[in-house]
Amino acid sequence: MARAIEWLDGKLRILDQRKLPREQIFADLDNYQDVVLAIKEMRIRGAPAIGVAVAYGIALAASSIRTTNKDDLLAQLNQVMQAFAASRPTAVNLFQAINRMKKAARGDGVAEIKKSLIDEAKQIHKEEVSATEKLSQLGAELIKDGFTLLTHCNAGALATAGYGTALGVIKAANEQGKKVSVFVTETRPLLQGARLTTWELMQEGIPVTLITDSMAGYFMKRGEIDCVIVGADRIAANGYTANKIGTYTLAVLANAHGIPFYVAAPTTTIDLSLTSGYQIPIEERSPEEVTHIQGIPIAPAGIRAANPAFDITPNQYISAIITEKGIMRAPYTEGLKRIGPRFLL
Ligand code: MRU
Repeated sequence: MARAIEWLDGKLRILDQRKLPREQIFADLDNYQDVVLAIKEMRIRGAPAIGVAVAYGIALAASSIRTTNKDDLLAQLNQVMQAFAASRPTAVNLFQAINRMKKAARGDGVAEIKKSLIDEAKQIHKEEVSATEKLSQLGAELIKDGFTLLTHCNAGALATAGYGTALGVIKAANEQGKKVSVFVTETRPLLQGARLTTWELMQEGIPVTLITDSMAGYFMKRGEIDCVIVGADRIAANGYTANKIGTYTLAVLANAHGIPFYVAAPTTTIDLSLTSGYQIPIEERSPEEVTHIQGIPIAPAGIRAANPAFDITPNQYISAIITEKGIMRAPYTEGLKRIGPRFLL
């Protein structure tokens, strides 16, 4: 599959996720402002992929700063990091990446710092790839032959710049020879499920059925869904999880029907600094994303619309959290503290 993010000849090549699946367009970003914009406009999206893009964006910015003074370089980099920190608020991978890059901005001179930032960005990318591969293998143990799964939004290779999280688990189960099929919710307002997840699963040859978000309960009630699996944007210290808007509804529904509900995420998505999930900042996006579909108005002009991009799923609805360090079940607070990210906020 085409790579979502690639560091090529000192530039960041991205696959434009707003254009998929109709058009497969790559853009070579050669300045950090374009990376910030691509994240805001969700041309790069998904928590782990955002983290990787931020790391490369900071390295890109450092390379283009013309100064021989180390303090001047660090001061300018600080501004760059602030611009990235303001791009999207919910996915903690973004802040983890900034934190790591801040720590990596060390060296005797300007040239050394610039080099160590590129090395660190590549390292962050490498670690995300390996974490998503590992958690997918581990999570596949939960998937039985013949399972029909339901997933929401897109938590695949596109969203991770690696193997995928929720989709990674499904892909790994499929590669192990288990026959699996997947219901994919379209994921209004930006249709990540309909546009991206279906596209990824079809490329893997995994049978997929697209449904609207409101059809999930109907299929659960009919006994057609064996488990729900989603990714995460931020997991608080108590296991409460922020993920794409609609995830909470699916978790409550799964619980009401006795269907396991799994969250798959690398440890870079865990935020031990927040004791409760309700402290996670929820991004509010433009109402136009709700009143329009791909630029076409679908509601009366002037209508008021709300557009929270994420919601919080309380830990009692989560059957297990799958990370590269193992599969964790309740009580989550102890387990998360044990495996929490190496680089704390
Ligand atoms: O707004 P998005 O498309 O960036 O939201 C993405 C999600 O909610 C994903 O489920 C999450 O980032 C996990 S991606 C492995």
